Amino acid sequence: MKPAAFQRRPETALPRDNPRSAGSGVYSVRFPRIYRPSWAEVDLSALRSNIIRFRRKVGRRAEILFVVKADGYGHGAVEVAKAALATGLVSRLGVSSVEEGAVLREAGVRGPILILGSLYPFASTLAAIRYRLTPTVASLEGAKLIREAERRLNPRERRRLPLACHLKIDTGMGRIGVRWPSGRAILEALDRVEGVSLSGVYTHCPRAEDDAAYTRAQLKRFSRIVDSIRATGTKIPCFHAANSAAALRFPESRFDLVRPGLAVYGLVDGFQPVLSLKSTIVFLKRVPKGTPISYGGLWRAKRPTRVATLPIGYGDGVPRVVSVGERRASVLIQGRRCPIIGAVTMDMLMVDVTGVRGVGIGTEAVLIGRSGKAEIGAEELAAAAGTISYEIVTGLGARVPRIYRKIH
Ligand SMILES: Cc1ncc(COP(=O)(O)O)c(C=O)c1O
Repeated sequence: MKPAAFQRRPETALPRDNPRSAGSGVYSVRFPRIYRPSWAEVDLSALRSNIIRFRRKVGRRAEILFVVKADGYGHGAVEVAKAALATGLVSRLGVSSVEEGAVLREAGVRGPILILGSLYPFASTLAAIRYRLTPTVASLEGAKLIREAERRLNPRERRRLPLACHLKIDTGMGRIGVRWPSGRAILEALDRVEGVSLSGVYTHCPRAEDDAAYTRAQLKRFSRIVDSIRATGTKIPCFHAANSAAALRFPESRFDLVRPGLAVYGLVDGFQPVLSLKSTIVFLKRVPKGTPISYGGLWRAKRPTRVATLPIGYGDGVPRVVSVGERRASVLIQGRRCPIIGAVTMDMLMVDVTGVRGVGIGTEAVLIGRSGKAEIGAEELAAAAGTISYEIVTGLGARVPRIYRKIH
């Protein structure tokens, strides 16, 4: 699925890729014209399949809040949010900040949006209310901010009340969240604020993919808190605890709502990767044995080598570390693995294409995704960089065009 601009007439706009031109199934929203032939493909049909699969696995009882923070894990928050809501299986979205929520609202996204981060300073609380976002309250100070903001609303804004907010409880993450039983004081404080409705209480499981005993203990702790809140007669419509791993592995984590990110983006086993990262050979040469490649001469040809240059680098989110020392990532060209050679530079990188048939200027290279029978997942690139797939996809640069394959 090469963007049309790279196929024939790079000097023209992308009429067939234009989001306003129906029927192509492929479009880019960030750049009206694309000339630099490196891009990320986002397959919205795969996203939909993942949501359907996730729904089947977790059952029908719990609502799904799809986490689209960090620009939808690098996939483009507006596009993935709209595609997810259109399935009818996702009813809420999660972001990390007011700004991220505002971007969705400005793009016409409706429905509940929970801000998973802690709000500070005061102005951000006011902005959250104005954009009809649902703040998380994680401390007594946070509850005071909400109370103060509620007082300062003008009469028109008062029509937006009651303001829904969720209380975050720390049961073992150690990031934000009040510990119990101190959380009870916040619950009572919020209960007294006219115009505020505490519509959710939640926690987060940081080790659901690798520590079952820890996660079970956390969930037990949270469950006891849920029981004690219910016992007071306080009506909370929504308790939640589960990210992708918790929801898939621990049925008792599902409560009233689950909050997947990674599984919906297809970065969990059994789900379909949504994003591919591709580039194109723009320069080819043969170098004799001993030739150093790139900054610092960190790589030298051990034999006569055919070297291809791709216009993508660490400024686009390809970690420089995958090209130095022991860690060496590959890219796929004509279905073959071609190692990255020499340091990844800001805008370009070099690969060894010696012996690969059918290689020329304009040949496609896959950094994440499939080529023939071969595949490189974001997890593989992450492992080469000594990190996790979350960091690879959220680290994709703003200058990488995202090309969307529409749901058919
Ligand atoms: C509070 C919270 N809930 C849910 C998620 C989604 O997690 P995952 O992408 O592992 O499903 C995150 C992501 O970091 C999070 O911070």
